[in-house]
Amino acid sequence: MSIPKVLMAPNGPHFSRFVQGYWRLGAWNLTAQQRLSFLKSHVELGITTVDNAAIYGNSESLFGEALKLDTSMRSKIEIVSKFGINGIATSTSEKRVSHYDSSKEAIITSTETSLKRLGIDKLDALLVHRPDLLMNVDEVAEAFELLYRSGKVEHFGVSNFTRSQFQLLQSRLPNALITNQVEINPLNFDVFEDGTTDQLQELKVRPMAWSCLAGGDIFNLQTEQALRVRNSLDDLVCELGASSSEQVIYAWLLKHPSNPVALIGSSNIERIKTSVFALGLNMNTEQWYRLWTAAKGHGVA
Ligand SMILES: NC(=O)c1ccc[n+]([C@@H]2O[C@H](COP(=O)([O-])OP(=O)(O)OC[C@H]3O[C@@H](n4cnc5c(N)ncnc54)[C@H](OP(=O)(O)O)[C@@H]3O)[C@@H](O)[C@H]2O)c1
Repeated sequence: MSIPKVLMAPNGPHFSRFVQGYWRLGAWNLTAQQRLSFLKSHVELGITTVDNAAIYGNSESLFGEALKLDTSMRSKIEIVSKFGINGIATSTSEKRVSHYDSSKEAIITSTETSLKRLGIDKLDALLVHRPDLLMNVDEVAEAFELLYRSGKVEHFGVSNFTRSQFQLLQSRLPNALITNQVEINPLNFDVFEDGTTDQLQELKVRPMAWSCLAGGDIFNLQTEQALRVRNSLDDLVCELGASSSEQVIYAWLLKHPSNPVALIGSSNIERIKTSVFALGLNMNTEQWYRLWTAAKGHGVA
């Protein structure tokens, strides 16, 4: 199964349709060599884009350590990271609670730290991790301009933004934001209904869908909704001739007209290899709405 690279936005970068998420890397307990082998395995599959964030514990450093073992891998991948969540609460008076920070200084410092930890000169894309209620968009625009001009970041995007937050930041930028990275899975697809993906379609910007498997909850939760969704997935696995529920979930996601790229959070390369066969599944409209109906607990009006 070959995984296509797709244009993220007008004048944006090309990312692989499946993106490997590295949020949980610290929990995988892999040696640097094993981390490099994992990276090589998914790149071989065609998953060339990787997602990280300054707030993901030591994930950037662990990834950087692996990359250092074979620096030729840098030119084969696109690296995305995020800034803006200012750490865990400490007992110091300046930082009693975790908070967002999108000041110019915080953006520059966070990005330079990410580059250092990853052991690279440039990020392919930098995203605002979460909307900051105190965000001064002119200051963000200034920081982006500095990072672009100094060759430290090629493209910019956002994550978990509402339509109006996206529009506001976009209004100050010379180039298109390349994505809004948002949660999409059969237990939570609010963004299909609150205008978020409508806006992205209008602008020809692809969402990056995070936690497509609800972080694994889709297979474990005992709620009525999760049980209905699992029953529906079992039926669809048989009908579509799929080999796993994950395949059906990704096929459901990729059928959406906003053309999302799907973040994979698994550490299991065999599971990843199976999942990407979603690209070959042909889910029809009734089947798509069957999963929607299972999630909602009622049919369409
Ligand atoms: N922008 C944001 O705010 C934001 C928020 C969250 C995540 N993200 C990004 O999105 C990426 C993906 O998120 P995610 O890790 O939550 O993705 P996910 O793919 O929904 O969840 C991955 C988890 O599900 C488990 N899993 C997969 N298949 C399973 C199965 N059949 N049965 C039981 N468990 C199963 C995986 O375990 P195995 O490792 O054993 O397969 C892994 O622990 C992250 O790495 C991060 O890059 C972004």
